[in-house]
Amino acid sequence: MTIHQTKPFDGQKPGTSGLRKKTPVFMQPNYLENFIQSTFDAIGGVAAKTLVLGGDGRYFGQEAAQTILKMAAANGAARVIVGQGAWLSTPAASNLIRVRKADGGIILSASHNPGGPNEDFGVKYNMANGGPAPESVTEAIYARSQEITEYRKLDAPDVDLAALGTVKLGDTTVEVVDPVADYADLMETLFDFPAIRALFAGGFRMRMDSMCAITGPYAREIFENRLGAAPGTVAHGTPLPDFGGMHPDPNPTWAHELMAEMTGENAPDFGAASDGDGDRNMIVGRGIYVSPSDSLAVIAANAHLAKGYKAGLKGVARSMPTSAAADRVAAKLGIACYETPTGWKFFGNLLDAGRVTVCGEESFGTGSDHVREKDGVWAILMWLNIIAARGQGVAEIVADHFRTYGRNYYSRHDYEALPKDVANAMLDDLRGRLTALKGVSTNGLTIESADEFSYTDPVDGSVSAHQGFRILFEGGSRAVLRLSGTGTEGATLRVYYERYVPGPDGLAEDPQEALAPVIAAAEDLVGIRAKSGRPEPDVIT
Ligand code: G6P
Ligand code: ZN
Repeated sequence: MTIHQTKPFDGQKPGTSGLRKKTPVFMQPNYLENFIQSTFDAIGGVAAKTLVLGGDGRYFGQEAAQTILKMAAANGAARVIVGQGAWLSTPAASNLIRVRKADGGIILSASHNPGGPNEDFGVKYNMANGGPAPESVTEAIYARSQEITEYRKLDAPDVDLAALGTVKLGDTTVEVVDPVADYADLMETLFDFPAIRALFAGGFRMRMDSMCAITGPYAREIFENRLGAAPGTVAHGTPLPDFGGMHPDPNPTWAHELMAEMTGENAPDFGAASDGDGDRNMIVGRGIYVSPSDSLAVIAANAHLAKGYKAGLKGVARSMPTSAAADRVAAKLGIACYETPTGWKFFGNLLDAGRVTVCGEESFGTGSDHVREKDGVWAILMWLNIIAARGQGVAEIVADHFRTYGRNYYSRHDYEALPKDVANAMLDDLRGRLTALKGVSTNGLTIESADEFSYTDPVDGSVSAHQGFRILFEGGSRAVLRLSGTGTEGATLRVYYERYVPGPDGLAEDPQEALAPVIAAAEDLVGIRAKSGRPEPDVIT
């Protein structure tokens, strides 16, 4: 029997990163099946189509993959290309969709959220361009999930996902592929592997923290096998269903082991980390943490040193809260710089239209037009390529960058789990006073303009309003406020502070100290601490 009766579940509404729920929610009978059938129905069915399937190795991924394979078969798919062990990093899945000209793909991940029987699971559908489904599609999936009455699933034994090769599942061909090979080959076309190999051969030491998540096998193959980094360069390199209890989010808080090593005695030359599904990254030098905004700017300024980018960049894009460091590089290069709302999906049109080559966000995402997702290992390789080409370490490259472009001091302060009404009242109040703020001076800073960010996509003309508040001060400093779109409890207020120092003096201060006047000005103008009743932020990055 392949047709099964079912009833809708509430709340199967995918966000921009797919449907994310606690694992036990996904493990309820019919829950995953309903969502997958709704996805298939919403995209016009999968009959005769080719799909890519894989995930970040978290708990329930294997079982979910088996279910999806049997459903794809019962729905008439021609072929499903699945990563061995149901493994594929998000950027590798995006690449596989593109190189195999698949009709789409399903990624099993909840990104940087912890995994395990009581942690998070997620399912995301990507389109034929390799990028996440747009809102029109996710809306259609949700609508379908609310009226679903049956799903199709083949009654068949599990496919052996440990063995590479091709098998039949009903009339569907299931092709189990090496999750790493195509991706690693793509990286070899973009970066100067011989130069990086020479760097490692010369004694350069790296620490890559894969945080027991999906990049382990990619990092071992690329850094250790293909580039000759010392065995053991990759730490936490075996993906585990619960990520070994780690919180696989590459920032100084969660990647504290790496931070301790990079600031300790005998620190390696270069450190990097990536998240659960491999799309985020963090870059660290010996004793120096590179903020994601600065990393984007350094990459934009130096990408031409990598062979895949030697023709130069078409343009760069950053999310609005990301610092304007990349804008200064774009201005110098004479290329376009786009400011988009938070969320990788806003880069998709710009990449597809060939308007930008490199994109980045303050939330530890960097990438280029090689795939349609952000890409952690790509960013790390780009840094290695820049280090090899310039013959300088991370600290020298960053210091040089600041001397050339000035420094956009930057920090994000998060106030987590605020009561929603408190957060909304604070921002409503600010909204009402925005126009009156122009020309106001406080803490030695004068407001040049204040607005609520609204984005008009230059490719399709669509408008995304209410994307956060910008208070711009004369001289290039600013405070940005927005509510997180990914928080799970109450409202998370993110406040992003930025202060521009042109140099040559004052380029090596502590960011919190350098930003103190901007932080004080924002407090005066918005009353964040006063209104939230929180004396200090919960997280500072
Ligand atoms: C996800 C998206 C990113 C985005 C981030 C913002 O990770 O993939 O593109 O930058 O969410 O999260 P926030 O909590 O600030 O809305
Ligand atoms: Zn991720």
